Amino acid sequence: MARLFYALQPTLCESAAMHQLAAALLPDLGGAPVHAADLHLTLCFLGEVAGHELDAALPMVQHIRPARLELTFELVDYWRRSRLLCLLPASGAALDAVAHLALQLREATRAAGLRCDARPFRPHLTLARKVAPQSPDRWQWPRTPGRTLALTADGFTLMRSAGSGDGPRYTAVRCWPQSAAGLPTPAGS
Ligand code: 2AM
Repeated sequence: MARLFYALQPTLCESAAMHQLAAALLPDLGGAPVHAADLHLTLCFLGEVAGHELDAALPMVQHIRPARLELTFELVDYWRRSRLLCLLPASGAALDAVAHLALQLREATRAAGLRCDARPFRPHLTLARKVAPQSPDRWQWPRTPGRTLALTADGFTLMRSAGSGDGPRYTAVRCWPQSAAGLPTPAGS
């Protein structure tokens, strides 16, 4: 079994800029930054998936060909209940395209007989976890990041979440359009 989800991954430069923002805020906010290499925007969360389920699911997404996506993030927010610091994308055509891609992946996953998270798509990119500002009233949320932050992607990625004492780490398993031959077998089974 593997804990899997489809996501968009920023480029190295974009991730570095996002990570720098988190590093600038976290001394005051507390919390653990997501590693720059792990930053992603989740499109469709599959949960725990067995190897044979994934074998059924992957062919269903082969035909999905998103246009080049250029998303900009206009706000940084603190989600108190989940203790997340995250980026929120600006509305517009790019966000509409991302929402459409998320819907396509959800439908393809369900058509293969797998469950995916039933909650409405709430696009965000998590910068840090376990955030707990000591003086929450000092901060106004959401706020502008004060710099240009974007995510450009030519496709989407199946990612794996693996827990550890230091929090989850995320790795790319497979990318579409398929340009990442040689990546490890998805469910690791
Ligand atoms: P989060 O950053 O808001 O926690 C791997 O866990 C990724 O999938 C994370 O981006 C996480 O979002 C998201 N995720 C985790 N559990 C989920 C769920 N039940 N439904 C949707 N997305 C989930």
